[in-house]
Amino acid sequence: MKCLVTGASSGIGKDICKYLSVLSHEVIMVSSNKEKLVEACTEVGSNTYYVCDLTKDKEVDKLLKFIEKEKPDVIINNAGFGAFGYFDEVETEKEIEMINLNIIALHKITKVALKYMEKQNYGYILNVASSAGLMPGGPILSTYYATKSYVRSYTLSIYEELKSKNSNVVVSVLAPGPVDTNFNKVAGGSFSVKPLSSEYVAKCAIDNLFKKKMIIIPGLIMKLGVFFSRFTPTKLLLNIALKIQHKKRTKSS
Ligand SMILES: NC(=O)c1ccc[n+]([C@@H]2O[C@H](COP(=O)([O-])OP(=O)(O)OC[C@H]3O[C@@H](n4cnc5c(N)ncnc54)[C@H](OP(=O)(O)O)[C@@H]3O)[C@@H](O)[C@H]2O)c1
Repeated sequence: MKCLVTGASSGIGKDICKYLSVLSHEVIMVSSNKEKLVEACTEVGSNTYYVCDLTKDKEVDKLLKFIEKEKPDVIINNAGFGAFGYFDEVETEKEIEMINLNIIALHKITKVALKYMEKQNYGYILNVASSAGLMPGGPILSTYYATKSYVRSYTLSIYEELKSKNSNVVVSVLAPGPVDTNFNKVAGGSFSVKPLSSEYVAKCAIDNLFKKKMIIIPGLIMKLGVFFSRFTPTKLLLNIALKIQHKKRTKSS
């Protein structure tokens, strides 16, 4: 199958590309930094890449045309970043970039892909959210949590719409907890628990996407955490989240 992966130059995206290559799929790797992307392509053994800054409208529009032409069978909307800080401290410009990348680009790519996939009644879309998107909120990482809630919410709605149409198109959401990637370096934080490896998360994501799973939560501890959070009052969850994020931020500064 022809697969397109955003955020393919590092972390979960790069490991998803590696795993798809192992499964003998063709991979088109997308990210904004050409140098990093070319290096990642060599590592993955792919010779197809597309440089695109997904925070920039015009560049996204060009990518959408490319996707409409190429019609990949599998789309992995993975590119994303976060930024630690109290809401009044984080620069608005950075938050808008985050919203453009984590929400707007992912939204537009999903819409374009869904249209041709529904027409051919075949295809797979994986939207990478986070366990953050399953929580009521995330103080000190507030905009990131909110973007991931958006991804979780609208992907699940599309899942139900496709089911009601008896469609063969698969839409899943990936909701990992901490994963060992460049995420913290970019976000300005550190993990308070041992992260999963991105190789493990990538394999779990792709295996479960192909099994048509609606929400993919890698790792037993995170699955249990999400399960028990359902019975925990919102105010307590917010307070726990604030304490965890505060520690993560302090540890890195
Ligand atoms: N690590 C975690 O703990 C964790 C947990 C839950 C969910 N996630 C989610 O997993 C996804 C992948 O993150 P990661 O952990 O693998 O982090 P990562 O190693 O920092 O990878 C992020 C990827 O996104 C790309 N990217 C960043 N800005 C971009 C832009 N403007 N345009 C196009 N691509 C851009 C980066 O490539 P370039 O720099 O080349 O553009 C890179 O390939 C994200 O959506 C993240 O929110 C991560």
